[in-house]
Amino acid sequence: MRVVGVTPDAYGGPEALRLFELPDRHAGPGKVRIAVHAAAVNPTDSVVRSGLGHDRQRGTEPPFVPGMDVAGVIDEIGPDATTDLAVGDRVMAIVMPRGSHGGYSDSIVLPDSSVVRVPAGVSLVEAATLPMNGLTARLALDLLAVPPGGTLAVTGAAGTLGGYVVQLAGQDGLSVLADASKEDEELVRSLGADVVVRRGDDVAARIRAVLPGGVDAVVDTALLGRLALAAVRDGGGLAAVRPFSGDSERGITVHQVWVREYRHERQKLDRLRRQVESGTLTPRVAGVYPPEQANVAHARLEKGGTRGRLVLRFRNQPV
Ligand SMILES: NC(=O)c1ccc[n+]([C@@H]2O[C@H](COP(=O)([O-])OP(=O)(O)OC[C@H]3O[C@@H](n4cnc5c(N)ncnc54)[C@H](OP(=O)(O)O)[C@@H]3O)[C@@H](O)[C@H]2O)c1
Repeated sequence: MRVVGVTPDAYGGPEALRLFELPDRHAGPGKVRIAVHAAAVNPTDSVVRSGLGHDRQRGTEPPFVPGMDVAGVIDEIGPDATTDLAVGDRVMAIVMPRGSHGGYSDSIVLPDSSVVRVPAGVSLVEAATLPMNGLTARLALDLLAVPPGGTLAVTGAAGTLGGYVVQLAGQDGLSVLADASKEDEELVRSLGADVVVRRGDDVAARIRAVLPGGVDAVVDTALLGRLALAAVRDGGGLAAVRPFSGDSERGITVHQVWVREYRHERQKLDRLRRQVESGTLTPRVAGVYPPEQANVAHARLEKGGTRGRLVLRFRNQPV
C-alpha cells in the first residue's frame, strides 16, 4: 500500500511529506478495508507533519501518516463485522490517525462503526470532505444543546467546519448569526445564516449590536477564544475546537470539542449522509491533488483563504 507520511528526522513544513510503500494490511474482526480514492486535507494534519503530535506516536513505527477522512470502495470485510455494507460499496469514514495508520493511504482498515455509505449523487472526492468535520459540527451542537428557536453564533463560518455548523444549526431550528468577510458574505448567507456580521476581532460587538443580550451559544471555529466569549449571554455556552486558554466568565460553560468522541457514531455519520442527500448539507471541494503533491496542498491550506476542502486523490477511476 502507498501512503503519504513523515519520519521524525524530517518533521517540519509541507516539504516534510513523502510517499512510502508499506506492506498490505487485512481487515481483522469487526473491521473493514477500504480501497481509498480520496482523503481530505485538514488543518490538524499539520500537527502530525510538524512533529507537534509526536507524543501521540509513542509505541508506533514511522512513517507517521496524517489524515482523518477517507472515501473509497470496500474491498475486504473482516469476521464479525456488524455492518450491512458489502465488498464493492462506496463508503466514507472518519479516521483516528496513529503511527502509519492514517487517511493519506491508498488502503486503510477501519472499525465498521466508523464507516457508512457515501451520499447518493456525490463523488468520492466530495464525500471525503464530510465525516470528520461533519461529526465535529454535530458534536459541537450536541454539547451546546441549544433548544430549537435559540440563537447560535458561528465564527469562521466560511470555513469547512464553520459552514457545516451553520447548515446543521439551521436544520436544528436555531437562529444563526455568522461572521464573514465582505467577499464571503454571499457564501455564508447561501449556507443559511439568518444574520451575517463582518468577521474580525470585534465580532462580539457586532453580534451584540444585533442581539444586545448576547447569543445563547457560540461555535468558535476561527479560534477567537475570549474574543468570541464576549458574544455569549450570561449563562450560555461556547464550543472550543482547540484548547481554550484562560477562564470563562459570567457563568458561561466552555465545552471542549474533540471529534474522537464521535469516531464510532455510525448513526450520526449516516444522518450526515442523509442530510447531504436531502440537500441540507453541502460538501465543498476547493482543489484536488495527487498524493505526490500533498506538500503543495498543505502549503496552500496554510496560506489561508481556501474555501472548501483540499483533497488528495489516490485512485483515478471515475466513481
Ligand atoms: N477539536 C476537534 O475535534 C476539531 C475537529 C475539526 C476541526 N477542528 C479545528 O477547527 C478549526 C477550523 O477548521 P476548518 O477545517 O474549518 O478550517 P478552515 O476550512 O481553514 O476554516 C477556518 C475559517 O476561519 C477563518 N478565520 C481565520 N481567522 C479568522 C478570524 N480571526 N476571524 C474570522 N474568521 C477567521 C478562515 O478564513 P481565512 O481562510 O481567510 O483565514 C477560514 O474561513 C481548525 O483549527 C481545526 O483544527 C477541531
